[in-house]
Amino acid sequence: MIEKLKALEKELESIVLNNADETEQFRLKYLSRKGLLNDLFEEFKTIPNDQKKEVGKVMNLVKQAAQVKFDEAQVNFEETIKDSTTDQDLTLPPEPTKLGSRHPLVLVEKQIADIFSKLGFSLSYGPEIEDDWHNFSGLNFPENHPARDMQDTFFIDKEIALRTHTSSVQVRLMENQKPPLRAIMPGRVYRNEAISARAHCFFHQVEGIYIDKNVSFADLKQTLYHFVTEMFGKEFKIRFRPSYFPFTEPSAEMDISCIICKGKGCNVCKHTGWVEILGCGMIDPNVMQSNGINPDEFSGFAFGMGIERITMLKYNVKDLRVFSTNDVRFLQQFESE
Ligand code: DAH
Repeated sequence: MIEKLKALEKELESIVLNNADETEQFRLKYLSRKGLLNDLFEEFKTIPNDQKKEVGKVMNLVKQAAQVKFDEAQVNFEETIKDSTTDQDLTLPPEPTKLGSRHPLVLVEKQIADIFSKLGFSLSYGPEIEDDWHNFSGLNFPENHPARDMQDTFFIDKEIALRTHTSSVQVRLMENQKPPLRAIMPGRVYRNEAISARAHCFFHQVEGIYIDKNVSFADLKQTLYHFVTEMFGKEFKIRFRPSYFPFTEPSAEMDISCIICKGKGCNVCKHTGWVEILGCGMIDPNVMQSNGINPDEFSGFAFGMGIERITMLKYNVKDLRVFSTNDVRFLQQFESE
C-alpha cells in the first residue's frame, strides 16, 4: 500500500491544473466521495493494525497535497467555476428587446404629411389655446353669428378658447407669410361634445391651404383626389357636395366611396356607399383681405380633415374611444407599421 501511495504522490505532483474545468475533473478523480483517495481510505481499514501508523501518515500527506493543489487552483479559477456552475446557457442568443409601437394617429398623420410634402406642402403648427380672432373672427365668423354654434366651444374666458379646429393656423400663417403659401397644419382640437363611439371632446385634424396666383377649384379637386389615391388606393371614387363654411366660398364636403364595403352599403357608410372625409373650398376673399392678402391678386383653396376619421377607415376601427384609452392590445397591433 505504501508503494501505491508513493506512486499517487508522484502522480499528483506532476499534475498541472490550467483551468476551472481541469480543477473540477481533479476534484472528482481524487477528492470526491467516489474518488481515488476515498478508495484508499477504504483499503486502509483492511490492513493489519501494526502497519496502520506508518501507512496512515503517508496517506494523510498525500491527501493534504491533493487538497492544497485543489484549493490553490480553485482560488485561481473561482470566477470561472462560478460561471460554469450556473444553470444559464451563456451560448444562447439574447432575448430580443421589445420595441414600442407608434400610435395609429401618429402613423396616419405622418402618412398625410408625406403625401402632401411630395406636392410641395410644408408643415406648420399653432397653439391649442387660441384667441377669438384666430379661431373665429379672422376666419369670417362675425361676432354673434350663428355659424359660431357649428362647433361647441370650450371657452376659457370671453376672448380665449380651446381651438375648435386647425383652421386657426391658416390665419396665423397668412399673418406671418406672403403668398405663395402651401402648407398643411396638423394638431389637436377640442369640442364640448359627449364622448361616444363617434365623437370625442378632443380629436385631431389636418388643415391645408394653397394660396397663389390663379389657384382654382380644379386644383383643389386634383390635389384631394391625389391624396385619396395615395392614402387608400386607386379603386376609390370621390365626390364633392356643396356645403357651407364661413371661411370658404364656394364650400364643399368631400366623400369617398366606402372603404369597408367598397360602395355596396354597410353600417359605416350608413348604407349610402359614401363616407364624408373632409371639408374644403376656395378661401373667402374676406378672409384674405382681413389677413393682409389681396384677393384681387391671389386666390387659394383650403381643406380640413379629421385624422381619427381617416385612421378609422384605413384600419377599420369602429370606436373612436380606443385612440385615447391606451389599451396595449389595440396599440400592439401597430408594432410592425
Ligand atoms: N374647420 C372645419 C371643421 O373643423 C373643416 C374645414 C372645412 C377646414 C373647410 C377648411 C375648409 O380649411 O376649407 O369642420
